[in-house]
Amino acid sequence: MKYEQFRDSIAEYLQSHPQGVTWPELKDRLGLPQRTACYTWIYRMEEDVGLLRARSPKGMLWRVPTGKEMASRTPDRTNDARVLGGNLAPFPLPIRTRRMILRAPALSDVEGVRSALDDSEMSQYVPHRPYPYARQDAIDFVRVSRRKMRKGEFLNLVGVDRTSGELRVAVGVHSIDWRDLRGEIGYWVPRKLWGNGFATEAVVAVCKEVFRSLPIRRIEATVLAENIPSARVLTHAGFVKEGTQRQATLRGSSWRDVDLYGLLKDD
Ligand SMILES: CC(C)(COP(=O)(O)OP(=O)(O)OC[C@H]1O[C@@H](n2cnc3c(N)ncnc32)[C@H](O)[C@@H]1OP(=O)(O)O)[C@@H](O)C(=O)NCCC(=O)NCCS
Repeated sequence: MKYEQFRDSIAEYLQSHPQGVTWPELKDRLGLPQRTACYTWIYRMEEDVGLLRARSPKGMLWRVPTGKEMASRTPDRTNDARVLGGNLAPFPLPIRTRRMILRAPALSDVEGVRSALDDSEMSQYVPHRPYPYARQDAIDFVRVSRRKMRKGEFLNLVGVDRTSGELRVAVGVHSIDWRDLRGEIGYWVPRKLWGNGFATEAVVAVCKEVFRSLPIRRIEATVLAENIPSARVLTHAGFVKEGTQRQATLRGSSWRDVDLYGLLKDD
C-alpha cells in the first residue's frame, strides 16, 4: 500500500464517521497492513489534509475537525502556519475579516466544497474542475491546495463563517511569477450565497495581505466578459479593467472573450 491510497481511504472513511475512530478500529475496518509506515502516515495526514487528533476515554481519536472547531482555533494552535512554505511562508494565516476567517482548506470543508462545485452553473465559470464534482474531488482540492501551499506554489484559501465555520468563499492566488512579482486571483462562492458580499470581502482582504506581506506588486484577474458579478467584485476591490482578450477561451463549444483586470500595490 502507498501513502496516497492510505490517506484517501482514511479521509473517505472518516467523512462518514464524524464522531471519530481510534487507530485500532481504523486498522480493523479498513484492513490496513501491519506496517510501521502506517503509524507515521496517519500523523502526516494532519499536515496533508488537516486531520484532527483528539484524546478520548477510548484512547486517541482521529477525526475530521468540525467547521466550528476550525473557526475557533487561535492562530498559534492551527496548523495553518505549517501549511505555508517556500516564498509564501511570510503570509500570515488565518486572516480575519468582518464576517469570515480565511484559512487553508481542511477536511472539514470537503462537504461544503463538494456541494458548491457540484453545480452546473458554477462549473461554467470555474474552469479546470470536474463536473459532476464528487467527494473525492473535494478531498483532492484540500490535499492539493495544502501541498502546493507548503511548496510555495500558490495560495488557495477558504473563507468560513466566524462562528458557524460554514464555507462562504474560496479564494486563491495562482500562477505566481516570482521574477515579475505578480500573481492571478480566482474565487468562487456557493451559489446559494451569491449577492451577500462574501467574494468582495475576501478578495479585498487577500489582496491587502498579499501586498503587505509578500513582494508581489501586481495581481491580475481574467474574467469571462459576460461574468458581470465577477467584474463587480474586482472593481469594488480596486482593480482596473485593462483590456479584452478576444476569443481567449473555449467554453463548451464556443470561444469567449475574456476581460483582463489588474491591481497594483501602488494603486
Ligand atoms: C462571481 C462571484 C464570486 C461573486 O460572488 P458574490 O459573493 O456574490 O459577490 P458579491 O456579493 O461580493 O457581489 C459582487 C457584485 O455582484 C453582484 N451580483 C452578485 N450576484 C449577482 C447575480 N446573480 N447577477 C447580477 N449581479 C450579481 C452584486 O450585486 C455585487 O454588485 P454590487 O455591489 O454593485 O451590487 C459568484 O457569483 C461566483 O461564485 N460565481 C461563479 C464563479 C466565478 O465566476 N468566479 C470568478 C471567476 S473570474
